Amino acid sequence: MGKECLLEVKNLKTTFMTEKGPVTAVNGVSFEIYSGETLGIVGESGCGKSVTSESILRLLNENTTKYEGELIYKGSNLLSLSEDQMRHIRGNEISMIFQDPMTSLNPVYTIGYQIAESFIIHQRLGKEEAYTQAIEMLKLTGIPSPEKRVNEYPHELSGGMRQRVMIAMALACNPNLLIADEPTTALDVTIQAQILDLIQGLKKELNMGVMLITHDLGVVAEVCTRVVVMYLGQIIEEAEVGSLFSEPLHPYTKGLLKSVPRLDGDRSKNMHVIEGMVPSLNNIPRGCRFAPRCSYSTSLCEEKPPELKEIEDGHKVRCWHYETVLQEGRRKGIADAVR
Ligand SMILES: Nc1ncnc2c1ncn2[C@@H]1O[C@H](COP(=O)(O)OP(=O)(O)O)[C@@H](O)[C@H]1O
Ligand code: SF4
Ligand SMILES: [Mg+2]
Repeated sequence: MGKECLLEVKNLKTTFMTEKGPVTAVNGVSFEIYSGETLGIVGESGCGKSVTSESILRLLNENTTKYEGELIYKGSNLLSLSEDQMRHIRGNEISMIFQDPMTSLNPVYTIGYQIAESFIIHQRLGKEEAYTQAIEMLKLTGIPSPEKRVNEYPHELSGGMRQRVMIAMALACNPNLLIADEPTTALDVTIQAQILDLIQGLKKELNMGVMLITHDLGVVAEVCTRVVVMYLGQIIEEAEVGSLFSEPLHPYTKGLLKSVPRLDGDRSKNMHVIEGMVPSLNNIPRGCRFAPRCSYSTSLCEEKPPELKEIEDGHKVRCWHYETVLQEGRRKGIADAVR
C-alpha cells in the first residue's frame, strides 16, 4: 500500500471574534497527513491543537470564527465546501474522536442504535444489517460479548469501553482519516495503552491516516511516525519521531522532552516543567513567541520572529539559534556516552 497525501493543511489561520476583539488561535499552520501514517500533534494545553482539528472538520461556530488558508482534501479545499458537502466529509471521509466519549455518545440511546445509525444514514443499510455491522464494529474494537453490549446504554460501560464504542462509531463510516484529540488522556495507563494499540491496529488494517493529538511525548514515541510541535498557535518544529527525540532543534521541544516521564523509576520525580507562563493570545511577543521563556534568547529573538525553516530532510524548526541547541545536544550526547 503506497503512501498517499490525504490532507494538505496550507497556512491555516483560525480567528475567533471575541468581545475583546479578534483572537487568532491558529496562526499559519501547514502540514500534510499521509495514508497509513500516524502524525502526532503535541504542545502544552492552549497551544491550538484542538482548534486545528476542529478547523479541519469545520466544527467551530462559523458566525464567530474566521478560517483562512487551505485544507486540500481529494483535490478540493474543505474551507470552500458547502455545509452539506462538509457533512458528507464528516460522515464518510474524516472522523474524529474526542477525549470525553460522552461528547459523542447520546445517553438516551443504546450503543448499538448509535453505531447502527451511522450505517443507516451514510451507507443506507437496512436496520437489521446495520445492527449486524454494529456488532462487527464492536468486535473489531475488542469489546467482549458485543451481541450483548449493543443493547446497553453508555452509562453501563466503563470509560475504556466507552472509548472503544466511540472509536467504533468513528470507524463505522470507514474514514480515510481519523483525527483523535487526546483520546486516552482521561484513561488510566493500562487502558490508555490498549486504546492506542487498538487505534494502531485499526490504522494498519484500514490503511487510514491518523492525526493523534496529545500533550504527552511518551505517547508520540510509542505510536507516531512523524510529529508536529505547536506553541502558541504556530508550528515550532516538525520531524520524524526518531530525529525529534535524538536531535531536537527547538528549545521548547527540548524542554518538552525533559518532561517526558521516564518508564523506569519514579515518574513524579522525573517530571520537568518548562518555566514561565505561556503568553496570552491577546499579548503575543513581537519577536519569537517563545522568547520570554527561552534560555537561549538574544536581542534578535526579541526583535524578529523566526520563520519555520527546513534544516534537513523533513526536519523543520522555527528558531534563530537552532544550531546552538543542536551543538549543545550533541556535546551532551557525547558526554553521556563517555560517562
Ligand atoms: N471559541 C473560542 N473563542 C475564543 N478563544 C478560543 C475558543 N476556543 C479556543 N480558544 C482559545 O484558543 C486557544 C487554543 O485552544 P485549544 O486549541 O483548545 O488548545 P489545546 O492545544 O489545548 O487543544 C486557547 O487559547 C483557547 O483559549
Ligand atoms: S528564536 Fe530565540 S527565543 Fe525563540 S526559541 Fe529560538 S533561541 Fe529561543
Ligand atoms: Mg485540546
